[in-house]
Amino acid sequence: MEHPAYHIIHSGDGSDSVGIHGTTISFHSTRGAFTESMQVFIENGLKHYIERHRPVQLNILEIGFGTGLNALLTAQVLSGQELPARYTGIDRYPLPEEIFDRLNYDAFTRATGLYKPLMKAPWNREVQLSGGLLLQKIEADLVAYQPEGVYDICYFDAFAPDDQPELWTPGVFRKIRSHMSEGGVLVTYCSKSMVRKTLIESGFAVEKLKGPPGKREVVRATAVSGSSGY
Ligand SMILES: C[S@@+](CC[C@H](N)C(=O)[O-])C[C@H]1O[C@@H](n2cnc3c(N)ncnc32)[C@H](O)[C@@H]1O
Repeated sequence: MEHPAYHIIHSGDGSDSVGIHGTTISFHSTRGAFTESMQVFIENGLKHYIERHRPVQLNILEIGFGTGLNALLTAQVLSGQELPARYTGIDRYPLPEEIFDRLNYDAFTRATGLYKPLMKAPWNREVQLSGGLLLQKIEADLVAYQPEGVYDICYFDAFAPDDQPELWTPGVFRKIRSHMSEGGVLVTYCSKSMVRKTLIESGFAVEKLKGPPGKREVVRATAVSGSSGY
């Protein structure tokens, strides 16, 4: 994929998303960007993990930082819970300011004022944001990226396997699995059987969950005891 040119999309629930010129690729479901992020990543991933494990701190990895919508919604949930979190977002093509400046996400996050600081935070450096999120955005290609530390939650939000098959391989999932805590969860919007099979082979127990509008099923993969994926 070359460095893409972008345009704004108005998705079905009123929240904006981003499309890539000359393709049908979008950063979120066109039926609803906010709705998709809330269900696939926040409800199935973040809130599920907190309810089940009652952690005192969290380590979150996002594959495909993009518009920052998942990070923003995470910051909003955590700011009400006094739960400190380290959030590492990987992206090969950081979104230009002239695009993220035009997204209407403040309106979807009770105008917390968190969005611009999060997006304007420098890349490749840790930045403490108000609300308790220690953010590190890393400009890197997932294929070559070597995770550091141990993650409780992974938001796997790469473009679809048909568009970027190199990001949905056993090598990538095993690499992530080997940096996840016991019971840690990887959540993704893609429930293709090939993806579920690859996740299982990489050391995850896979559940299919009801998807947001326009998507029958989505996936939660839990790091299974006794398997490091190798
Ligand atoms: C589906 S979009 C991400 C949506 C994002 N989570 C959001 O809420 O806006 C996929 C993202 O993966 C990034 N990407 C594409 N190729 C990549 C690669 N090889 N390594 C890491 N990120 C990549 C794109 O730049 C894009 O931001």
